[in-house]
Amino acid sequence: MKKFNFHVKPIGLLDMLHFKQMVPRRRAILASGSLEPITAVYGVNRLAQSLHPKRQKAVVSEIIPRKDANTYVLKADKLAYFRAGQYVSVKLRIGEAVTARPYTLAAAPALALEGQYQITVKKAQDGFVSDYILNNWTVGTEVTLSGPEGPFSYEPLRDEKEVVGLAGGSGITPFMSMAYAILDGTEDFRLTLLYGSRTKKDILYAEELEKICAATDKVRVVHVLSEDEAEGCEHGFIGADLIRKYAPETYTLYICGPRAMHDFLAGELPRLGLDQKHIRREFVPAPSSPEYFASYTGDPSKVYTLTLHLLGEEKQIPLRADEPVLTAIERAGIAAPSRCRSGECGWCRSRLIGGEAFIPDSLDGRRLADDEAGYIHPCSTWALSDLELEIFPE
Ligand code: FES
Repeated sequence: MKKFNFHVKPIGLLDMLHFKQMVPRRRAILASGSLEPITAVYGVNRLAQSLHPKRQKAVVSEIIPRKDANTYVLKADKLAYFRAGQYVSVKLRIGEAVTARPYTLAAAPALALEGQYQITVKKAQDGFVSDYILNNWTVGTEVTLSGPEGPFSYEPLRDEKEVVGLAGGSGITPFMSMAYAILDGTEDFRLTLLYGSRTKKDILYAEELEKICAATDKVRVVHVLSEDEAEGCEHGFIGADLIRKYAPETYTLYICGPRAMHDFLAGELPRLGLDQKHIRREFVPAPSSPEYFASYTGDPSKVYTLTLHLLGEEKQIPLRADEPVLTAIERAGIAAPSRCRSGECGWCRSRLIGGEAFIPDSLDGRRLADDEAGYIHPCSTWALSDLELEIFPE
């Protein structure tokens, strides 16, 4: 066994003298410095700002209609580069409300270098925001976006070279970006995509997927139809048997789809025996009602009062028990910070000063220290009483 000998030199007189001279020497250096403010922007800061801007402006330059959805091509002189699978938060003012929604960037990341993003907005059942975008955005509409966000992207140090993607409905968008990135050589992995749709007509990006598969053998797509039987497609839901049928021997699983798909897969995935580190899930936005969770014991018909502390000012607003606290803040026209709206990113982190709140375990992405210090994520918190909250604007 190798032995290490540590020798600690005792502090001598010369060290003491040197130490004694340090403070006056530093003071002299500071005194001789220029009083002019530093004007230089350091290269590393410039790079960080261009990769992680807080806000970006873009204009709708083209609208590609799809079944119950539109793809919006957004252009600007400059847009931040992103990793295939990431999203941007779209900021909106709808009537009195100020809100935001996350949408995955669906095109190749390389297009961002030419000032282009693409997002696809699908009509949703209770889609207050998706309805607004589908009915109001036209070519020329100016939109405000966050910088690219989110950890749902391929990581070669962590992931296998083979990825099996499970997509449901508009959950195809991050995989479109990944497929394009594989095609143009930006990403280096093989993608087997099981894509669930109700019928053949509901498949989003059908033609684009076909073209990508024809152009590279690194991307393979299997359509799984729940309400239709069609040649060349699987029928039913994506479950463990279907995954085993198409998956290679070793792989990392990426999942993006509606809440119902995640719920179904929760019972299926243990049958695959995969290590948790090889299962990557895109976030699922919080449901509109807390009654979705079996552990909820509140009364969703109540309307409480939310006392807000914001930049030293105090404000009281109504707080419906059946919607996330963040929605009440936005409804009152207050621009609260948010990105993922699923309890994961921490952008909406706020301090709970008083009151009782419901935070379901599956949406509790808080750090332990935040939990103990009384911080909450209002996007995934529902009121059980009047609440008092301090929020921190961006
Ligand atoms: S917006 Fe991401 S945690 Fe609330």
